[in-house]
Formats: sequence, structure tokens, C-alpha cells
Amino acid sequence: MVASQSSDALLAVDGLRLSFGGLAALDGVAFGVVPGRITALIGPNGAGKTTLFNAVSGLVRPQGGSVRLRGEEILGLKPEQITARGMVRSFQIARGFPKLSVFEHLMLYGQDQPGESWTAALLGTAAARRREAALAEQALATARRLRLTHVIDNQVTALSGGQKKLLEIGRTLMAEPALMLLDEPAAGVNPTLAEEIGDLLRAIVAEGRTILLVEHDMALIERISDHVVVMASGRTLAEGSFAQIREDAAVQDAYLGGAA
Ligand SMILES: Nc1ncnc2c1ncn2[C@@H]1O[C@H](COP(=O)(O)OP(=O)(O)O)[C@@H](O)[C@H]1O
Ligand SMILES: [Mg+2]
Repeated sequence: MVASQSSDALLAVDGLRLSFGGLAALDGVAFGVVPGRITALIGPNGAGKTTLFNAVSGLVRPQGGSVRLRGEEILGLKPEQITARGMVRSFQIARGFPKLSVFEHLMLYGQDQPGESWTAALLGTAAARRREAALAEQALATARRLRLTHVIDNQVTALSGGQKKLLEIGRTLMAEPALMLLDEPAAGVNPTLAEEIGDLLRAIVAEGRTILLVEHDMALIERISDHVVVMASGRTLAEGSFAQIREDAAVQDAYLGGAA
């Protein structure tokens, strides 16, 4: 059974359409993300993977289709409303606030305490102080987990490429998401770090979170993903295990540039 048709999908994308001028970046893409798994979204350059992430996370508004999170339509919600529902994305190019330290950056992305007003924070109430202390503890633990403790007071701009990739995963983790959308979390890092990032993602899923991953590193995909969805020209071309999609003739064509 196709996961997108299964009622146990945490995220269900159906018939998404989005054109830039005359170009259909998303042309009916449909698939599902089953909880407790790593689903990899792959496809040749220009397939529409980043646009799909932007559409699903509320950064761009598709012209048609549906995105359901736990069965509820989220298309049209703002990014922060989607984050509050437990789906958080990372970016291919780590964005951020260059003047912030690693610690401040992590604190910034900690969960907002529901029901706590800005006046309480301003007045420095005991509850606000406890919240701040808990967030600081979480930021320290996250830095430790990502082995960024030794650079925790450094500015984000001073980090190496690999450290920026780790921080991007850490930022996502700070929101304690049920579903993480990761756009090329291992792009451009050395093979040892790519392997460590793979282990980290497996550990995150073992804790009960779910990951939807865009990645070009096929060795990494093969090692860590439970399910693979292949996109080409804004559509779902194939899905299955890595072994299944590797044998798929249409997938091989798409990667060789044969897909029309
Ligand atoms: N903001 C944009 N304006 C115009 N065209 C875009 C924009 N973003 C993406 N595209 C086009 O949409 C298609 C899908 O791009 P993208 O989602 O970045 O693919 P992928 O991430 O799979 O490489 C490409 O043809 C790309 O050139
Ligand atoms: Mg992309």
C-alpha cells in the first residue's frame, strides 16, 4: 500500500501544485510520512524537493492540493502555526542571526511556553525565570549532544561548515518537534561527519520523532532511511525501500536525465 493513502500517515501530502510563471515546480506530488521512521525524499536537481518543503512548512502558498498533519489540513497556516503543531524544518543553507552566539541561537528556537505572556517575561516573574533556566539547560544539553560545547560562546558565523550543519539540526531539535523536515543535513560535510549525522538522525528517530529528509548522499540514504520517495518534475515518481527504488527503471531514467 502507498503510504500516502494510509490513514496512519503523520504527514500526508496530496496533489500539491505550484507554478513559478509557466514552470510547474510542484505538479501533483503526493506521498505520506509514517511516524517513527526516516523517510527520504530524493530526486534530481530541480525536481521540486526544496519547493515542496517550502510549501509544506508554510513559506510558500501552493495553488492547489492538500497537506495534512495528523489528519488536519495545514495548508494556509503560517510557518509559526505549523511549528506549534510539531513540524519543524531545517534549511539547506543554514540561516540565522550572524551576531548571535551558538548558545543564543539555540535559546532563540526553544519552544514558547503556552500561556506565558510577554508581560510576565518583562516583569521577570518566577515562572518566566524558571522557563528561562529550563531553556538554557536544554540549549546546553543540545550543544553537548551535537558536540558543540567547545564553541557554544562563539558567533554562529565563526563556525565551520560542518558545525553549522550540526547547529541547524540542533535548532530544529530545540523546538522538540514530532516531525523534522531536514533539507540536506549532510551536504558538503566530510564523510566522517556525514556518518555521525546519520547516527544522530537514527538516534533522534529512536526517541520517537519522525524525520522527512532531503539528501543527495545515496550511501547515507541507503544506510539510514526506512522509506524512500522519489520526486521528478514536481511529481512522485516512485516510492519504496532503497533497494526497490534503486532497481526502478523510471528512477534510473530520471537520474540519467531521461525523464521528460
Ligand atoms: N522562487 C523561484 N522562482 C522561480 N522558479 C523557482 C523558484 N524556486 C524554485 N524554482 C524552480 O522550481 C523547480 C524546482 O526547484 P527546487 O524545488 O529548488 O528543486 P530541488 O530542491 O529538487 O533541486 C526548478 O526548476 C527551479 O528552478
Ligand atoms: Mg533543493
